[in-house]
Amino acid sequence: MGLVLGIESSCDETAAALVTSDRVILAERIASQHEAHAPYGGVVPEIAARAHAERLAPMIEAVLSDADKTLADCDAIAATAGPGLIGGVMVSGGHCQILRVDGTGQYRRIATTIDDALGEAFDKTAKVLGLGYPGGPAVEELALSGDPSAVPLPRPLKGSKEPHFSFAGLKSAVMRAHAAGEYSDADLAASFQQAALDCVEDRLSRALSVIQEMDGEPVRNLVVAGGVAANDAIRTALETLAEQHNMTFGAPPMALCTDNAAMIGWAGCERLRADDFASDPLDFKARPRWPLDPAAEPARGAG
Ligand code: KG4
Repeated sequence: MGLVLGIESSCDETAAALVTSDRVILAERIASQHEAHAPYGGVVPEIAARAHAERLAPMIEAVLSDADKTLADCDAIAATAGPGLIGGVMVSGGHCQILRVDGTGQYRRIATTIDDALGEAFDKTAKVLGLGYPGGPAVEELALSGDPSAVPLPRPLKGSKEPHFSFAGLKSAVMRAHAAGEYSDADLAASFQQAALDCVEDRLSRALSVIQEMDGEPVRNLVVAGGVAANDAIRTALETLAEQHNMTFGAPPMALCTDNAAMIGWAGCERLRADDFASDPLDFKARPRWPLDPAAEPARGAG
């Protein structure tokens, strides 16, 4: 059994976890900085960097003590090197991709967003509705009491041949509908979420056809990850879509959808097993951008 200490500090969560190679999280701690950033309506890189520096060492000690381990018991330390905030550069939260996963660290990008990521669209909708930051969970909550068909909103790129996403137009339409003053906030939230959901279903269905054409066989497993995967409506819709296409469906437990150190520890375990882990020197470079598929061509129409 391998024991890996995972450290996550790419954005506004400081987190540490001890993960074993047989998939057990022995200990996990996470300190959110949401309160520190909330007055600014988004993450302030300087505040984030200072908070990570203050919190990380005591947090690692606490996690080791929670699991009754010492650093010497760990076979490896895995730390997020990117993508994320480095100085004033932000990419985190900006991803929205469909990837074919061929193995550890082997990804083929099938689709990406040509403008905003879905999480950003949730955050911007939340901002328009005055729900604060981070916006995704607040929009989801408010949508529960709204009518998803009350506000006519666009489904950008729906039906288009390439499976890419686009959410900028949807965001602007929400802003215009809000400014018109004719709809309740709950109806706006529910209608936005429904439009986003329709786009995700349509684009994913298209991507599945593209992969099938490419591989000559259907996709068997669907895995969803990231902050938006914590959205119950989106998760349920994807689960149904997986069933319709005879795919198994996998998603992390809600608490492990947003930034956390267990996923970093697990990535470390996978790397350890694949044996390309030991080569990272301690002065490895932090990378604000880190494409999963470096060979992916820029999406046509991307701004
Ligand atoms: O994967 P993630 O942590 O971003 C990166 O680090 O790249 O996702 C963060 C995004 C935020 O935009 C947040 O609003 C969104 O995930 N999010 C949600 C929910 N929880 C988090 N969006 C919709 N519904 C949620 N329940």
